[in-house]
Amino acid sequence: MNPPLPPFPRQIPLCRPSLGEEELQAVKEVLDSGWLAHGPKNKEFEAAFSAYVGTPSAACFNSCASALITAIKGAKFQGEIILPSFTFSASANAIVLAGCTPVFAEINPTTFNLDPEDIEHRITKRTVAIMPVHYAGQICEMDKIMAIAKKHNLRVIEDSAETLGASLNGKQAGSFDIGCFSFYPTKNITTGEGGMVTFHDPSFGETLGAVKAHGVVKPTFEREKITKSWYRDAVLPGFNFRMSDINAAIGLVQLKKVNQLNAKRQEHAQYLNQHLTRVAGQHLEVPHVDDIKTHVYQMYVIKVKDHLKRDALMEYLKTKGIQASVHFEPPVHLQSYYAERYPARLPLTEQVCKQVITLPMFPDLKQEELDYMVEVIADFFDHDSWIRCTF
Ligand SMILES: Cc1ncc(COP(=O)(O)O)c(C=O)c1O
Repeated sequence: MNPPLPPFPRQIPLCRPSLGEEELQAVKEVLDSGWLAHGPKNKEFEAAFSAYVGTPSAACFNSCASALITAIKGAKFQGEIILPSFTFSASANAIVLAGCTPVFAEINPTTFNLDPEDIEHRITKRTVAIMPVHYAGQICEMDKIMAIAKKHNLRVIEDSAETLGASLNGKQAGSFDIGCFSFYPTKNITTGEGGMVTFHDPSFGETLGAVKAHGVVKPTFEREKITKSWYRDAVLPGFNFRMSDINAAIGLVQLKKVNQLNAKRQEHAQYLNQHLTRVAGQHLEVPHVDDIKTHVYQMYVIKVKDHLKRDALMEYLKTKGIQASVHFEPPVHLQSYYAERYPARLPLTEQVCKQVITLPMFPDLKQEELDYMVEVIADFFDHDSWIRCTF
């Protein structure tokens, strides 16, 4: 027999993408056009995206992972790349798969973003780039990171998978050197699966195009317009990391709504900040945002002060129908592949991993769902429910 269902609302998912009639219509138009693969909608999406982020150019991909791999390969990095371990494995995987060495650095335990001071400590003769990861929707201290990069003649590749639309002093995440974005359904906008690279040097676009599409610089839909359109010359051994025009058409619609979607996330986050602090401020920390930064809350992450209560709260939320998660535990340097090959000492990261909880966050969260989350968390701490869950 199934256990009794928790009271209304029975299930709050971690994420629910905001998609509607406009996206359906955009997909229908692509299907009707007969051109489904990488094509003109990719070009339109790239132009709109680079205009939004504030870079001269952008290139679509079928995921952020492929965007990262292609950007590192395309830039011909060879050596060490410094990144946080408090990230999704995709950040480090891309570095390894592109033939470079990941070097893990510490985070700031308040913002959970890469600590600029620790980056400096990890720079060696072999360092070629820094990969800041904008965690959960909050931009890193890019002013400091860019100054370090300039001082040591390093490139910067921003993993902005979790952050579209956040800025530092008005300059957007992903616009500083090379930026990589994800359009997975939990992200600020979605195309189902998808990614984007933003960049400044237009000639980099040709290299990215070749790495992404079998080594051939000109895509099929562009070759169609030239003589000898059948002539395909592979200039390098490329992948197939292309985005379809179906995904690009969805992305174009979603991008028009991104500010509106982010504003709703920010509104929900303000509400949770205020009420979680009121009911459980002595037990947890709500997300911290510096004055000069914006946060677009791709995830809403709280930190439980007493880490022994974190796992119990996770279990409690589950019994109450709230789909929370942990981003990220274990940190990448303690995951099997990396622990063996790239050991690192990162006590702050290891501590934060044990304390964080990602609560449901998406633009269409209802008021009663927000209130229910606050009520359940208050109840947990008020009644020491964690003790019952643990023992
Ligand atoms: C920081 C970070 N980088 C990269 C990725 C990979 O993105 P994708 O699933 O689009 O490949 C993710 C995905 O969640 C992520 O959080």
